[in-house]
Formats: sequence, C-alpha cells, structure tokens
Amino acid sequence: MQYGNFDAQAREYIITRPDTPAPWANYLGSPAYGAIISNNAGGYSFVKSGAAGRLIRYRFNEQDRPGRYIYLRDDESGDYWSASWQPVGKDLDKYRSICRHGTGYTIMEAEYTGLRSEASYYVPMETAHEVWRLKLINTGAAARKISVFGFVEFTCESFYEQDQVNLQYTQFITRTYFKDKFILQTINENCLNAVNESRVETRFFGLAGAPVTSYCGDRAVFLGSYRDYGNPVSVEKGRLDGTLNYNLNPCGALHTALTLKPGESVSLVFLLGQKREAEAKALIARYEDSGLPDREINDLKTYWHGKLANLKVETPDENFNHMVNTWNAYQCFITFNWSRAASLIYCGQRNGYGYRDTVQDIQGIIHLDPEMALEKLKFMISGQVSHGGALPLVKYDHNPGHEDKPEDASYRTGTGHPSYRADDALWLFPTVWKFITETGNTALLDEEIPYADSGVDTVYQHLSKAIDFSLNHLGIHGLPAGLHADWNDCLRLGANGVSVFVAFQLYYAFEIMIRCARHKGDASTETRMNELKKKFGAIIEERCWNTDRFVRGITEHDQVVGKPDDPEASLWLNPQSWSIISGFAPRERGTAIMDLVHQQLNTKYGARLMAPSYRRHAFDGALALLFNPSTKENGGIFLQTQGWLILAEALLGRGGRALEYYLESCPAAQNPIAETRLLEPYVYSQFTESVDSPFEGRSHVHWLTGTASTVMVGCVEGILGLRPDINGLRLSPSVPSSWKNFTMEKIFRGKKLRIQVQNPQGRESGCRKLSVNGVEMTDNYIPASVLKADNEVILEM
Ligand code: GLC
Repeated sequence: MQYGNFDAQAREYIITRPDTPAPWANYLGSPAYGAIISNNAGGYSFVKSGAAGRLIRYRFNEQDRPGRYIYLRDDESGDYWSASWQPVGKDLDKYRSICRHGTGYTIMEAEYTGLRSEASYYVPMETAHEVWRLKLINTGAAARKISVFGFVEFTCESFYEQDQVNLQYTQFITRTYFKDKFILQTINENCLNAVNESRVETRFFGLAGAPVTSYCGDRAVFLGSYRDYGNPVSVEKGRLDGTLNYNLNPCGALHTALTLKPGESVSLVFLLGQKREAEAKALIARYEDSGLPDREINDLKTYWHGKLANLKVETPDENFNHMVNTWNAYQCFITFNWSRAASLIYCGQRNGYGYRDTVQDIQGIIHLDPEMALEKLKFMISGQVSHGGALPLVKYDHNPGHEDKPEDASYRTGTGHPSYRADDALWLFPTVWKFITETGNTALLDEEIPYADSGVDTVYQHLSKAIDFSLNHLGIHGLPAGLHADWNDCLRLGANGVSVFVAFQLYYAFEIMIRCARHKGDASTETRMNELKKKFGAIIEERCWNTDRFVRGITEHDQVVGKPDDPEASLWLNPQSWSIISGFAPRERGTAIMDLVHQQLNTKYGARLMAPSYRRHAFDGALALLFNPSTKENGGIFLQTQGWLILAEALLGRGGRALEYYLESCPAAQNPIAETRLLEPYVYSQFTESVDSPFEGRSHVHWLTGTASTVMVGCVEGILGLRPDINGLRLSPSVPSSWKNFTMEKIFRGKKLRIQVQNPQGRESGCRKLSVNGVEMTDNYIPASVLKADNEVILEM
C-alpha cells in the first residue's frame, strides 16, 4: 500500500494519505533549536538538547501526541477539525489532506467543508524559535465565521526526565501569563539563577497577523476533564476562558475569530520559543510582516538545496536518485547534527555524541559539505584520549584537555559508559581519509588538536596513537581484543577474547597510515606499518579463516564464534564485507565469500547480520540473545551493515549484486509496501525484522541511525565509484548491466564535474576510456591538476 510519493524537483516527500502506518516525521531546525514533526503535527522541540532543553511535551510510544496543533472551528455550525488530520481526525471521505515534508520545513494542506488551510512549520535559518504559519482560504460561496486555535503543551521544566517523573516538584515551579499577543511561561521565576540545577527560563507562544480573541495557559482547562487532544472542550465551546497555569500543567493556547468572505484568504503566524518577554514581543512584531514566512522558507530551501546540489545523479533507477540526491543525503545531515539523541524513538536522553556513531556519520556528508564535516571531525578527534583510545561518549559540552575518561569513576557514572570500545578510535581512519581525499587538504594531518584528557598532537599523531591503542590491547593469538564491545554493541569478547571485525579495521588503518606516511615522506612509519600489516595479515589468515568464511571472534577460552558447524550464528556478515573493504581479501576469494553471504544471509529485505539467530547456543558474551530472533543484532537485517555489503560488492566490481542489495533495503523502493515497512519510505531505519519474525520486513528506529552514512558511502564510493585519493579522483562505477547511461554532477575541490557514463556493452564495472574536456586519460583516474572550473567528463565502461 502506498501513502505518498516523491517530488524530486521540490525535494519533498508528499504524504497523500494521512493515516500512515506510523508517524512519518521530519526534522526542523539546527543544533541551536531542534524540532521533530510528524505528518500529523505530533512531535516536540528542544533548545540544544533533547534531555536538558526540552520545550514541549511528547508522549513517546503512544498515539503520536501531543504536538503543534492548530484547530479550526466553524462558528456557525460548531463543527471543528484540525489543520493536520490528527488530532481531531475527521472522516477521510470528507477531509482531504496532504503533508509535504521538505528540507527543513513541513507543510500540511487540508480541505474541509469549503475551507482550505495550509499550515507551514519551520525553524528559520540561524534562529532559535519556530514558526507555524497558517493560511486559510474560503473556497465556498458563502461567508464563513471561523475560529482558529493554536495549542502547545509546554514542559514544566527543561530537563525532560524531571518533567516526566518528578511531578511533585516540577509542577510547582512554573506558571503562565497572558501578555497581549502571547502566553508567557516562566520557570523558577522567583530565582535569579539556577537552583538545584533547575534553570530560570521563560518561554512564549504567540500570535502575529491577527488579534487574540481569547487565551488559556492551563492544559487541564483547555482540554477539559476526561477529554483528549482530539476533542478539547475549549475548542468545542469556541472560546478559551482565560485560565492561566499555577501549579498544574502549562500550555499555550491562543484563539482568534475571523470572518472570511467567499474567495477571501488570511494568513497568520503562531510563534514558539524560549525567549524573554521583550524578545518575544519583538519577534511577534516582526511577523506582522506577512511576507516574512515565505522568504524564510525560501532561505531554508536555498540553504539545503544548495548543499544537496553538490552531488546530483541521474541514473535509470529513480529510487536510487531520490535517495542519493535528496533523502539519504538529508538524513546524513540530520544524523550528523543530532547523532542518536532525539527522534520519536530516542527520547533525547543521549546527551552527547557516541564516538563511533558520529565519526561514521561524518562520512555521510563529506562529499556534500566538507567544511561542515571538518569542524565536527576535529571536535571528535579531540575526544580521543592521550593513550589513543576514544571516549565512548563525547559530551555536548566537551572540554578538550580537561575531560575525565573511562578510567575515572566520574566519567563512568556521568555518561553511563563503563569502558573503552575496541573499535571507536579506528573509525577515524576511513573518515580522515575521506576528508583529505575529497578536499585535497592534507594539511589537516599536521594540524594540532588536543586530546580529551591532556596533551596535544597533530592529527597524524592522533592516528598513530589510535593504532597504538589497538596494539596495546591485544587478546589471545595477538589479535585485537574485543574489550567492552566492537561495532556490535552486543558482543562482549573481553580483554583477552578477540574481535575479527576490529582486526580488519586495524588492517585497514595500517593501509591508511601507509598512505599518509608516504605522503609525508615519513619512511620509518611507512616501513613499520608495512611490517605490521604483514604480521597481522598472517595472524588473520591463520586464526580468523575457517573453511569458507571469516569467523566473527574468538573468546578468551578460545571458542571460535562463527564457524560453519556452529548450530547458531555460524555466518556473520561484517567480517566478510570488511575482509574486502579492508583490502585483505583479494578479488577471487572475496567473490567466493560474498557468494556464500548471498546464499546464506540474503533475504528479500536485505542480508542478515548473522544467521541462524541465537536461541540456545549463544556464548557467554553474546548479548544479542536478549532480542527476539531476527531482531536487531540477533539475526535481524541490521541496515547499517548493508552499506558495507554494497561497498564490498562494488569494490569487487559486481554492480548487479551491489544494486540488488541496495534495492532490497532501499526505503524509496519500499514505498509501495509501506504497510509492511511501517516507517517512512524516505529515510533509513536501524533494522528490519527478518525471516524468523511473523512480521518480516517491518522496520524500526527511524532517522537517527548509522545506516544513513554507510549506505551513502556504499552508493557514492561503491556503486557510483567516485573514489578520490590525495591527488585526484578515480572513477570506478559498479552498476547493473542494465544501466546503459547515467550522469553525475559533482563539485570536487571547488570545481564542477559533469560526468557522463556510457555503458553500451552492459558491463558491471571497468573502464575502456575516460576523457576529461576531450582529453583522454591513461586509465580511469583524473589527476586534480587537469581540472578546470567546469569539466566535461566521459567515461566509457
Ligand atoms: C546501534 C549503535 C551503534 C552500534 C550498532 C550495532 O546502531 O548506535 O553504535 O554500532 O547499534 O550494535
């Protein structure tokens, strides 16, 4: 079943049926002010942090309530509805609506009883407030008397958890006032400064473009006893009674009554933010200019569309185009901004950047906005501890040079992270490499960046220390220890047990270090890394290969995990794909391994993380056992790993397979089966339930997931084959043989490349001829030195 479609031109997803199988959300705002909004206006907002800056309430895991509600009421008949289908939820035979999720804005259009409404929600660029602009048009033949009500449910205080659980306290520190055009909410108004960590704050909910007819600041009075957001008594009555909150729950509710002649339209604006009284007043005055919202929405489009335009592909597969050009790219920026903090599933409590997650997230935007990536990359490098390991969580208020670390009890209690992960710092290698090769900015290697705890080093030294950390934490057989976990949060392989995934990451790190050392003319490091690569390569060969596959790990009791004769979890996806990505497995062997993966792990919705799922035979450190079979790490389709799978197949030159995997789990390709998928068909989720589940194909944990960046890399570097190195760009598309022609437009180091790929023979990879501005290259490589401002590139496969 289909609930909407893509508008590639506008970069919007248009939901044409509002009764979607789950709330389908969008993100508004920036790290200064974040807002999540569903297609039925459910969701919440926060200043900087979902945990510590929560402005409005949302009841997680319920019926997508409450949200940013605009109620409309016919004052003659008393009939009322909402500008989004929910919360009132009128009969869909009579109520028509669409929701357009765009880049940084969401627009709900509705038509009911001859009245057309358009509610646009957005956070203007570089601001910390949100705008709900409502346009109303009377499309009928008679004049209409209409009441409009805006409603928002404030939190009692900014700390989400306190607001939810400490009711005997938080309800009594806040109250609301009416100030002419707005409801003002105060928190701790008797204090000048924070007391008990509870901050002194004021918030407002205001109206511009129309007079306030009546108001209410108390949620219970607004809704009425035993009522819900769908039938507030005040809306039913057509008037708010002016009650303000003192010791119950605050809200902002504003009402304006208007008359619309046939064909007449009106535009008004509700505003919300955490501002002082005077600032609120000034803001509302600014929005008396009714042209402002359109200009601000246009600014958002210019900003986002400008960023996204740095790579534009036109392939024969329109789902691939929708995702790579707009939605996967946009999601990469959202994960980059919000990490795993706040969504309709993540309640906002993760008050920092998970090291591995964010260092991987950065990879998803490097090809579109390397400068933005650089800032965060340096920040994350400063989250590395001076012995080379990385802080599992880098706090939002991270203070490099002065942080405590997992060795300190204060860090463990403060973050809830008990110790180092085996993989965290190793993610720097692909990310730093992507950055310097995309930009040519190798000077980054010499830049000095502090460590989290103390001391300063160049980025080159930081990388070297990351390798040292792994070398100083080896388990049995001299392989990298599994420590608290590796990429897989559910694997406790320990200080002596070993992780094969990390072994491949380390092998890859040696290779990147070799390239950097070569560039810097550091021969001794180059030699040392080559020796290490050889040494570890031999151990991997001896200890990690079993029959026809790479195993997943070895416990400290020398139990091998992931052998062919294991009754459960006998084949694991990541060590196979990473054997190729790391450069360890050469083509022929890689091909055999990946054929085995296809045979044993692939399903119609993607390849499973491992199979069979654990039920009775898990080793002691296999926490995946906690999950139902075919769920998450227990044999689910963990979508982040599909990106590596796609990349691995593409590196082998098997474009058909790469696209096959791509499409199996591509949200856009699942648009027609939304009832199976449940989640948004325009963004990736964390995992999909697989064959053991009665709900095969159902996906979970939307938006904030590493899937966004790994699949993006799988597409850009893998399928499209855009593989820069320090001196230029290698073009190695790996596509299905049916792709006879496609184009890419890419900004590379400030220059424009218009690339035409011709594939008349229907190959899956390879290059017969490459020309740049009419000049033939010697192979599929474009030295950066031949590029002009604007370049015509033709690649014949
Ligand atoms: C979640 C975590 C991520 C981890 C993955 C696999 O996505 O955010 O850090 O790598 O699970 O366990």
